[in-house]
Amino acid sequence: MIWLVGNRGQLGADMEKLLRDGNVAFIASDLEVDITDGRAVERFSSHKKIKWIINCAAYTAVDRAETEREKAFSINSTGAYNLAAAAKKTGAGIVYISTDYVFDGDREGEYTEEDAPNPVSVYGKSKLEGETHTRDTTDKHYIIRTAWLYGGKRGNFVSTMLSLFKKGGEVRVVSDQYGSPTWTKDLAAAVLRIVESGAGGFGVYHYSSEGRTSWYGFAREIHEQGTVLGMLDKKSAVVPITTADYPTAAKRPHNSCLSKERIRKTFGVEIPRWQDSLKNYLLGRGGG
Ligand SMILES: NC(=O)c1ccc[n+]([C@@H]2O[C@H](COP(=O)([O-])OP(=O)(O)OC[C@H]3O[C@@H](n4cnc5c(N)ncnc54)[C@H](OP(=O)(O)O)[C@@H]3O)[C@@H](O)[C@H]2O)c1
Repeated sequence: MIWLVGNRGQLGADMEKLLRDGNVAFIASDLEVDITDGRAVERFSSHKKIKWIINCAAYTAVDRAETEREKAFSINSTGAYNLAAAAKKTGAGIVYISTDYVFDGDREGEYTEEDAPNPVSVYGKSKLEGETHTRDTTDKHYIIRTAWLYGGKRGNFVSTMLSLFKKGGEVRVVSDQYGSPTWTKDLAAAVLRIVESGAGGFGVYHYSSEGRTSWYGFAREIHEQGTVLGMLDKKSAVVPITTADYPTAAKRPHNSCLSKERIRKTFGVEIPRWQDSLKNYLLGRGGG
């Protein structure tokens, strides 16, 4: 049985749907099992036949983390430790979802799993510590770094852009940060494939969609596809701005592109182009 942790988040919601649709045996929890509370985690996991823990729970408010350092570390680091300790104790394997924000973004080209992390935000530091705890606590772990997620049942970048475009007018979007928009449904499928593969090969893997764009390029594509699919009827202009034009509390990597060679070679995971996944996501939201 799988214990899916954080099932009300973006990724957790799509992971839950995939497990349900595939008739995979699982139990799921979110805030009702507080992962920062080691005893609560132990109580919940003992006497259950858990084979895998998929840890999708996180503190993801990147800017707020700069002033809520303790909370961010408690969930992303201590929470990760508690779950990894429960995995070790019950003999389960664990998946820890991590982030491109463990890198500083100064590299040209794609980051590989061999590149040295150097987080430049509290969020990135707390996630890196979560990786370290997971790795140091149990050998049977997969750390999957991903980037620029959208999906699930709550709001996300795509839904925010669509609602701005529905109002019409000018939408200003940062054009000098680069990465790969990634649909949580694709990532969930990759995670399930890995845990079901029985292939071993524990360690760190990168997963994001194929292709590279900026937030501005992503917004333009949402606008274009939304228009083609008949989801937008007002005129909007997407205007490129720089990171300096849009100051935020947390520093973000300029380059978030991840190399997917390792995950592709080890598990045969197919990686869609980000534009194709966006289209499928929009169609699922009632576009067309
Ligand atoms: N979003 C991105 O663009 C992105 C990019 C790269 C990597 N990631 C990583 O991918 C993973 C999934 O991200 P996501 O966007 O799906 O996250 P999310 O939507 O913020 O979901 C995280 C879930 O964890 C829950 N949670 C928070 N504290 C908890 C606690 N103490 N105990 C149990 N559950 C708790 C949250 O509840 P509340 O929301 O009610 O607090 C939420 O339901 C995370 O590890 C994240 O770091 C995300």
